[in-house]
Amino acid sequence: MDTQIFERYESAVRSYCRSFPVVFSKAKGAKLITEEGKEYIDFFAGAGALNYGHNNDKIKAALIDYIAGDNVSHALDMYTVAKREFIQALQEKILQPRGLDYRLQFPAPTGTNAIEAALKLARKVKGRTGVFSFQGGFHGMTLGALAATGNKYNRGGAGQELGGVTFMPYPFGFMSTFDTIQYIETVLTDPNSGIGKPAAIVLETVQAEGGIVVAPVEWLQRLRKLCDDHDILMIVDDIQVGCGRTGTFFSFERAGIVPDIVTLSKSISGYGIPLSVVLLKPELDKWGPGEHNGTFRGNQMAFVGGKRALEIWEEENVAGQVKAKAELITDFLNQHIASLDTRIQLRGLGMIRGIDLSALNHRELPNLILERCFQNGLIIEDAGRFGQVIKMIPPLVIPEAELLQGLNILKEAMEHYLKR
Ligand SMILES: Cc1ncc(COP(=O)(O)O)c(C=O)c1O
Repeated sequence: MDTQIFERYESAVRSYCRSFPVVFSKAKGAKLITEEGKEYIDFFAGAGALNYGHNNDKIKAALIDYIAGDNVSHALDMYTVAKREFIQALQEKILQPRGLDYRLQFPAPTGTNAIEAALKLARKVKGRTGVFSFQGGFHGMTLGALAATGNKYNRGGAGQELGGVTFMPYPFGFMSTFDTIQYIETVLTDPNSGIGKPAAIVLETVQAEGGIVVAPVEWLQRLRKLCDDHDILMIVDDIQVGCGRTGTFFSFERAGIVPDIVTLSKSISGYGIPLSVVLLKPELDKWGPGEHNGTFRGNQMAFVGGKRALEIWEEENVAGQVKAKAELITDFLNQHIASLDTRIQLRGLGMIRGIDLSALNHRELPNLILERCFQNGLIIEDAGRFGQVIKMIPPLVIPEAELLQGLNILKEAMEHYLKR
């Protein structure tokens, strides 16, 4: 295994390769395979970009056909067949059946680009500069999105003031011991609060990087009402927990709410090819032509993969799969993990789960467990404050046997440290 060239030439900013210091060459389904042939079960799935697994056969076939046929590979934001078919699939399979009337904007390809576009649009439409985000929220690394991201370490990398965002309490830990919606309401109505009315409130309905914190349904509904009452746009960042991760296509469906703007990325292309989509209510579409643009808007290959992925979502009843596997995960975690120590907290929804070890007061413990998992063939990462939450986001289509294999590796690693 030769990693020297990376260490010699790649910037120190590289990160996941430090947790998984091997060289991967192949990948299939829920498995990543090194150049020496060692297999790992992947409970990280490209940080949520691989809900349909690595090299999904159906998506791969569509992509090969597309490339082999000399179909358009790059087209800026020109009209193409691939774009038409993707828009059609998203409208017919996802938006229309849910009664969702959204226009689609394709910003540059990564999640943070979608957040930038959403925030710019909200500020433009409402004519206000402020935005509320939530403590623990993660929205990306470009300056606008970073300003809405709570993480101190990441914010420190900005090298400049990050302005225009005020952080509100998310219902987690101490902050869940009081009425956070009433708090926001008070901020908005108290003429002496010192905080102006924002253009938008941006949130994750399940904070992923923040430590798998699930917002209660009633809280989401009250936040929706608060936004309506105060003429504030609600932006749901579904970049990590959308595309079926929580069991429904959109994470906000469980609350029966309709955001004004939704950002999607990661698994929307189905194959790990970069694509971002901003869904916006038609009346918000106040963009001028090219006012927000980018060379790599609407990657054609991603459209092809994305369309096929939406077909698979239906064909293979991925929502049903998530439901069944979520039950299996819940049973396993309750039986084998929660029982290890009463201070362990399990959180999550569908196929995003967190094992919070912070109450054990052993800062190194999550890392030790993750390292042991890796040695034993499982790729899994941490999240949350001080990395104290073990985070599971396997591909949604992972076969049950591999899901159990991964869970057993995790169980062994946790027992190794907690039974001593
Ligand atoms: C909720 C959320 N928003 C935005 C982003 C940023 O996406 P990207 O890394 O593609 O820029 C992420 C990435 O993890 C995310 O989880």
